[in-house]
Amino acid sequence: MEVVPALGRLLRRVEPLQAQVSISDVADRLLRPEHTAVLSLPVVDADGRPLGLVSRSTLQDIFMQRFGRDLWGRKPVSEVMNPAPLVVSLDTSLEEAARQITAQLQSPIRDDFVLVDEQGLYQGLGTVLDLLKAMEHRVAQRNRVLRKALVDLKESQTQLVQSEKMASLGQMVAGVAHELNTPLGYVKNNVQLLRELTRPLLELADAQAALGDCLADPACAEDDLARALEEAGRLRELAAPELLAEDLEQLFADTGYGLQQIGELVVGLKDFARLDRAMSEEIDLNDCIRSALVIARNSIKDKAEVHQQLGELPRIACAPSQINQVLLNLLTNAAQAMEGFGRIQVKSWSENGQVLISVQDNGCGMPREVLERIFDPFYTTKPVGQGTGLGLSISFKIIQDHGGNIRVVSEPGRGTRFLISLPCSGAEELKRSA
Ligand SMILES: Nc1ncnc2c1ncn2[C@@H]1O[C@H](COP(=O)(O)OP(=O)(O)O)[C@@H](O)[C@H]1O
Ligand SMILES: [Mg+2]
Repeated sequence: MEVVPALGRLLRRVEPLQAQVSISDVADRLLRPEHTAVLSLPVVDADGRPLGLVSRSTLQDIFMQRFGRDLWGRKPVSEVMNPAPLVVSLDTSLEEAARQITAQLQSPIRDDFVLVDEQGLYQGLGTVLDLLKAMEHRVAQRNRVLRKALVDLKESQTQLVQSEKMASLGQMVAGVAHELNTPLGYVKNNVQLLRELTRPLLELADAQAALGDCLADPACAEDDLARALEEAGRLRELAAPELLAEDLEQLFADTGYGLQQIGELVVGLKDFARLDRAMSEEIDLNDCIRSALVIARNSIKDKAEVHQQLGELPRIACAPSQINQVLLNLLTNAAQAMEGFGRIQVKSWSENGQVLISVQDNGCGMPREVLERIFDPFYTTKPVGQGTGLGLSISFKIIQDHGGNIRVVSEPGRGTRFLISLPCSGAEELKRSA
């Protein structure tokens, strides 16, 4: 494909005039159909360098005068041409040409512009109208490209938001799987134990049934009865049901407790994963903190010990799954900020109609330049795959939607503290915006 410079496409190949051609001739030539689109004709010297432009309106002015043609007609065109036409080199970009031309353009527009090659030799004419059309086309094209870029950007943003959700979901699943393992382990053990402990009971029951049959059967031999009696006695001793009762009770209670824990985790998981924006019942935020801690435990345990100081809180209306997401992100960030084994402190309290939650770590902290940008979407200092840079911007939005705010203080080398405050009366606002 031939690459045509943008201006080249505007080129109108108009035969140039020599300076000595008469004004009458020029006037006649301008009337020719191939020249209807141009406002002027170019005049060049013997080498083909542009000397000027003679415009339709100038000729019209002359011929409108009394005896205009007689007075001027035989004179050379060089006498009436504009000797300082707009000259643009063909390799100029469209934008630059537009800039040059608008800078020099006179209004009303009486002239076209002359297009020359690198040697400055005349190549053709361009018209302002063509240039405008080309610019308009270019702008429309750019707009299309920009619109497409915007759509792509939005799409990738949605994908990233999704991947941040998936990352916390993955974390949560790993955490919950781990938490499920403990009760599952001892429920399994207990069931095994119960099976072993109940086996002699079943054997005893069998023996006692056999003894009963014997007793009820008048034809049962003395020997058989004696044997059945002895067997039942032996198995009774072995099974020791009176001693077993307490153990069994304990085992059943433990197993029940384990199952209950599993059940709670499953319910918690369901709550946590509820990514809808359901504005919910009144919630004790300490429950959210505990549930986030359970879920984050797995990713924190090798990094830091957690200290909780949870004060009594009024219940507030909020979307617990969203608050959980915020807490999980703060806890994960704190754990990821640890250089050695550190300490994370989670506190909650309420004052002045607000619930406050602080998450403090003694990790690496942040210099000012980082601190200023942490709530920006996609800002992350973590390697690819570890950070999406969306956690805090999503958290910020969630807390803002709840009518609260999130603040942070940090000192490099000493640690960071995030403070969330949520209004106790946030419920109304949230319901209105939901
Ligand atoms: N507790 C913290 N200690 C130190 N730096 C933090 C802490 N929390 C957040 N940051 C900084 O803020 C950045 C943005 O955090 P975030 O929005 O959660 O995205 P991500 O964790 O995916 O990087 C992190 O990359 C990190 O530089
Ligand atoms: Mg994060």
